[in-house]
Amino acid sequence: MAKHMSSAGADKSMSQGRQKDDIESYIEECRQFVAKARRFELVSEDSPAVSRYLELQNKNGSKRRSVVTKLVEELKVKEQALRKLETDLTKREVDLLERQIKQYGMQLELERLRPLSGLYRVIQAMATERKLESLLSIITKETRNILGCDQCRVFIRESNNGELWTRANGKGTEIRLPFASNTPVGLTARTGRVVNLPDVYADNRFSAELDEKTGYRTKSVLCVPMHNRNHEVIGVFEVLNKKEGTFSEEDEEWLNGLAAVAGGLIEQAQSYAEIENFVIRTLETLAQTIDKRDPLTAGHSMRVTRYALLIGEALGIPEIDMNVLRYAAMMHDYGKIGVPEAVLWKNGRLTPQEYELVQTHARITYELLSNLPFNGKLAAVPYVASCHHEKLDGSGYYRKLKGQEIPFLTRIITVADVFDALTSVRHYRNRMAISKVAEVMEAGRENHFDPEVIDAFFNLPCDKVLKVMESDRGQNSVPVELDLFHDLSLGRLIELVDGAKTHPNEEGLADLFQRIYCAGLPPDYQALD
Ligand SMILES: [Fe+2]
Ligand SMILES: [Fe+2]
Repeated sequence: MAKHMSSAGADKSMSQGRQKDDIESYIEECRQFVAKARRFELVSEDSPAVSRYLELQNKNGSKRRSVVTKLVEELKVKEQALRKLETDLTKREVDLLERQIKQYGMQLELERLRPLSGLYRVIQAMATERKLESLLSIITKETRNILGCDQCRVFIRESNNGELWTRANGKGTEIRLPFASNTPVGLTARTGRVVNLPDVYADNRFSAELDEKTGYRTKSVLCVPMHNRNHEVIGVFEVLNKKEGTFSEEDEEWLNGLAAVAGGLIEQAQSYAEIENFVIRTLETLAQTIDKRDPLTAGHSMRVTRYALLIGEALGIPEIDMNVLRYAAMMHDYGKIGVPEAVLWKNGRLTPQEYELVQTHARITYELLSNLPFNGKLAAVPYVASCHHEKLDGSGYYRKLKGQEIPFLTRIITVADVFDALTSVRHYRNRMAISKVAEVMEAGRENHFDPEVIDAFFNLPCDKVLKVMESDRGQNSVPVELDLFHDLSLGRLIELVDGAKTHPNEEGLADLFQRIYCAGLPPDYQALD
């Protein structure tokens, strides 16, 4: 018990001890007083000895009587005080003892339940957390607590080359091991058996290679395999450096149990990721079928999606909404499948009737996407996508929504959509000069575009925007040069292009941008409004 006491608890205990000593000495004093009184048969006024004494005193004078009476009264008071003190002390001692027993019992109970509470948190995470990395991070943290060890890593086996990798090592850095590596992890992955080394540096199954790489000093290690439903090894659960002693058989059992849970989760997460990937690729392909009907709009949906995701990330949109944003941006123009190509590809300004036809694509997008099984939060995808031509002042189409009636995610897509349209070559105009693009977008602030979204967009790191802008320009895209724009926001680049005074680290960036932006265009290229 004593070793679990805090210093505050120790102080309290010392003071209680002192109090107890004082009380005990007072009791002792009282006891002696009572004994002394009894020796003189002066227990009470009713006792025969006292009565006789009092009679004598009455006869022989009142002075001695008053002394005896005072003595008897004092004795009575002391006796009462003694009884009260004895009662109080006993009660306090019993209470204190009971409390200590309770605390000790609770501590023992807690010790006993510690692994179970860790397991409970793992199960809770399984029910609520879908992302594999977050799950693994919870599992490894709880495993460290349950097993009382310093490190826990979950290695996942790559299906193509058997390479074993982990990120869940507490520091977020990735470790990769070849399948044939001379490490306990490699050995467990190859044999599918538990490896428990109490003293690794005295064991030839251990290689110090990883310790040298990570700077971590391994002492004891326990590895257990993780299997899928077909009993194939899909990874290895590794725990390092047991804090007290070495890893026991009980630890092996715990780790086997946790590895079974983790294995199931990994398999489930991999299946989920495969399905999600399949859905994304399918939607991308659908979107591209529309974009590719016209070479000049090729890549539009994907670029709009990438711009929208950059803005969404900058605005801190929650992950679930980011998926709505991704799918809605990807599919926003899908309704163009219902617009005649002769109108879509027309070389020149559209007549009012043709423009009306083009406008139908937003409604068709809604109708077509509503047939796809977007469920839960994703159920918002058709609506969000179909509002992308609405304007804040209500002059957009096709529902004529105003301000807050337009979903916020749509307002992000709208900015991305218009920016891509203006910075792309169209049948009726060339790529618009970037200054003009900024001017058009600024003019739309508060009547067409949400100011918050516009600000977030122009504050984006320029290199990220340019990488999307130039992503479909093949040989003309120069990623290495685009990295030079890393410290610049898009807004600042436009200022530089407009002739703002450059800082030393901005020298030449405006010219470089113009070269990249106009690459592939005719030498006599004139940006048109
Ligand atoms: Fe559109
Ligand atoms: Fe569009």
